[in-house]
Amino acid sequence: MGKDVIVACDFNTAEETLRFLDNFTEEKPYVKIGMELFYAEGPEIVREIKRRGHKIFLDLKLHDIPNTVKKAMAVLSRLDVDMCNLHAAGTVAMMKAAVEGLTRPDGTRPLLIAVTQLTSTDQERMERDLLINEPLEKVVMHYASNAKAAGLDGVVCSPLESPAVHETCGKEFLTVTPGVRFADGDKGDQVRVTTPEKAKELGSDYIVVGRPITQAQDPVAAYRRCIKEFVD
Ligand code: C5P
Repeated sequence: MGKDVIVACDFNTAEETLRFLDNFTEEKPYVKIGMELFYAEGPEIVREIKRRGHKIFLDLKLHDIPNTVKKAMAVLSRLDVDMCNLHAAGTVAMMKAAVEGLTRPDGTRPLLIAVTQLTSTDQERMERDLLINEPLEKVVMHYASNAKAAGLDGVVCSPLESPAVHETCGKEFLTVTPGVRFADGDKGDQVRVTTPEKAKELGSDYIVVGRPITQAQDPVAAYRRCIKEFVD
């Protein structure tokens, strides 16, 4: 599986998103569309970005009863996205139903990735609010194993967790990793960050990069720098 840089297009209008993508005249970056943009603009923004030739990771983090997730995934599959995701906390049954729903009549389907524990959840919150009394790292690896057992392709995790995920679930199991910053860049609200170069060293399969590219003076140069450090 080829490594790639996914650009998080965290905008809330189609206009701003397309204006941003217009900067790229030579390359077609892999684009992540999240809840904000999807809820604002609906499926049409997905179709438009696909028409322009980009691959799309639709980051909607589904979590519901298996039948509902199966049907929702069938709709996303028809939208022709390349990657989508769900919460592993929805259980193995929900994840298996998602794979079924996502699979097209010809047997192909978008990549399906699981969120394990959100990075906004720490040990204390997990114990207090969720009554999960195991070490966070163990919970993340257990959820990753469940995702693999359900037939998913990988997980969203920190680049720092990529080696352990690959050790637990195998090298082919994908790690899609946000929390990436340039060595000389602003960390913003991200805490546990790594550079694209370090993410490559740690074995991440995809990095998800938002503000270091979207807010850069020269977004195309920032994107190329990510590709140079992570892919080339
Ligand atoms: O701007 P920045 O590079 O921090 O954007 C990272 C992207 O990855 C955002 O879209 C954010 O929602 C997403 N993300 C994250 N951490 C996670 C999961 C997703 O930063 N654990």
